[in-house]
Amino acid sequence: MDIAEFLITQKPNYINVGDETDLFEAAFTNKIPVMLKGPTGCGKTRFVEYMAWFLKKPLVTVSCHEDMTAADLVGRYLLNNDGTFWHDGPLTIAARNGAICYLDEVVEARQDTTVVIHSITDDRRVLPIEKKGELLKAELIAGSGKKCTHYFCKKCGVYIYADYEFAIRRLTVRTKTLLKPKDFPPQAHIFVKDKDPWINIADKNICYDEMYDPKIAWPKESLDRYKKYLETN
Ligand SMILES: Nc1ncnc2c1ncn2[C@@H]1O[C@H](COP(=O)(O)OP(=O)(O)OP(=O)(O)O)[C@@H](O)[C@H]1O
Ligand SMILES: [Mg+2]
Repeated sequence: MDIAEFLITQKPNYINVGDETDLFEAAFTNKIPVMLKGPTGCGKTRFVEYMAWFLKKPLVTVSCHEDMTAADLVGRYLLNNDGTFWHDGPLTIAARNGAICYLDEVVEARQDTTVVIHSITDDRRVLPIEKKGELLKAELIAGSGKKCTHYFCKKCGVYIYADYEFAIRRLTVRTKTLLKPKDFPPQAHIFVKDKDPWINIADKNICYDEMYDPKIAWPKESLDRYKKYLETN
């Protein structure tokens, strides 16, 4: 990716309305983020284009919407023939290259997405790229309709644990391996109602149509341990 593609080479036609160009320049010099608010067609986009040209800075524009995720801004791992590789999102591209990142319609973005811009716009000035750590994250919706986040090893892709929104203060660790499946016999089969008809599960008494109720399915010692943990932590 060539950052020069984001440079505005032709002077945009922008007529100064008040002291907005001086304000923007002062904010730029002092590294303060700028929020533009105004009715449609009042010149916000044109103004940013003009300022990017004036300050000779690349302009990275993101059209925000409510389905946008933090990964759409920061970046994600993608797959090609050689395996996984990291792909910078527009905010990361802008941060790495000292560009102006214009988050158009930022109010449309969800709060869990815009949270990534807090640390880069406040005094910390850092962009957290969580996913470049040792674990990869995938955010999904569980059968309950609530969110769950699955974590995989960055090196081999093995699914390690999940953090379910409904499972307060506990993580679900994946123990079973394909190499030694007998070491960890199943304790419950969940969402059996959705299984394909050709799958026959022998242990009918540990089948649950949907998610099991831990109070019924968990061994007593596990329930006691969890209760004690919640009381003391
Ligand atoms: N100060 C200005 N100088 C020159 N042209 C302007 C100015 N303000 C608005 N315009 C004209 O109005 C048009 C709309 O402006 P622009 O697209 O920047 O609005 P906007 O505030 O970004 O609107 P929206 O909220 O719909 O995105 C521009 O294409 C330009 O022709
Ligand atoms: Mg606009």
